[in-house]
Amino acid sequence: MTPPETFSHLLQAAAPPLALAPMQDVTTLPFMRVIARYGGPDVYWTEYFRVHGDSRPEKWILDSITQNPTGRPVVAQLIGNDIPALVRNAKLLQQYPVAAIDFNLGCPAPIVYRKCAGGGLLREPQKIDTILGALRDAVTIPFTVKTRIGFESPAEFDALLALFARHPIDLLTIHARTVTQMYRPGVRYDLIALAARELKCPVFLNGNVHSAAQAQQLLAETGVRGLMIGRGAIRNPWLFTQIRAQLAGAPVSPPTGRAVLAYLHELWENEITPGVCESAQVQRMKKFTNFIGDGLSPQYLHAIRRVSTTADFWRVCEQFLDHEQALLLVPEESHPAPPPTKA
Ligand SMILES: Cc1cc2nc3c(=O)[nH]c(=O)nc-3n(C[C@H](O)[C@H](O)[C@H](O)COP(=O)(O)O)c2cc1C
Repeated sequence: MTPPETFSHLLQAAAPPLALAPMQDVTTLPFMRVIARYGGPDVYWTEYFRVHGDSRPEKWILDSITQNPTGRPVVAQLIGNDIPALVRNAKLLQQYPVAAIDFNLGCPAPIVYRKCAGGGLLREPQKIDTILGALRDAVTIPFTVKTRIGFESPAEFDALLALFARHPIDLLTIHARTVTQMYRPGVRYDLIALAARELKCPVFLNGNVHSAAQAQQLLAETGVRGLMIGRGAIRNPWLFTQIRAQLAGAPVSPPTGRAVLAYLHELWENEITPGVCESAQVQRMKKFTNFIGDGLSPQYLHAIRRVSTTADFWRVCEQFLDHEQALLLVPEESHPAPPPTKA
């Protein structure tokens, strides 16, 4: 059982805590197992437990708590707007070895926000106020919130900050985009810096963290306590280790093509479900290669999206990755600018 104190200690540690972001259908038990082998984050988040009416915590998400293979704390995330159901599920979940209960205020999927859950709640500050009050009263272990900066406009953020400041939450993670912005460019790290200055509780920065150098710069610029990383960690499972090296002033070693190939093999072995047909297995791997390909090349992405057999999957991966060159594993738009050429 992970004592809840672990999480409080983590928040007070000298080094900035690094968290793996919750990602539905990605941050499951097998992925946790794989990423832990690469050094892994200091703390994991479950994907959200959907809470409504008489719902009970989903078994497959509970597995990532009860069988947590990482030796590091895991935080259980809830999404919903039914207050008695949220309170009931939070009380149930805190009996498991979880480090904290987290409430989702950011999911941008229309099917979720139209029901006024996840990011949709950002349009109803009064309701958020009541939910946070009820959950804070019910949760006896650390209670945390993950939010976006507004529903439609960053101008909503000031009022949200005032709302969060009213509740004694233990951590606020901010994905610095609005809900309607989805994943488009224009991440407002300046608003995260504002939150880090104004709130009493620790703040984690989330959104588009791709590299160790950028992570170090964002920590310095915003003054946040820690970082939460999602897609960057799927693309580059070495990222947490690289950030720790960068912060310690040690060299950051980029992986080679063959090391990325070995990572894909490890994912394959861990994500295999016995009895599942070949095309479904390949489809499952595309969930990961869609993100990994972003950090490789458009040509890889184009080719891997079109495969449907195991043989073709590995043929394409080997074509692009069977080499010893170092790879940055960051999306093309985030590549460091080339040095200026002499006139
Ligand atoms: C496939 C996928 C699933 C996600 N599922 C969740 C989730 O269950 N709960 C949540 O709070 N955020 C979820 N997110 C959002 C991420 O936690 C994170 O806020 C977002 O990806 C931005 O961080 P990044 O740029 O480091 O990926 C999901 C994101 C992705 C890409």
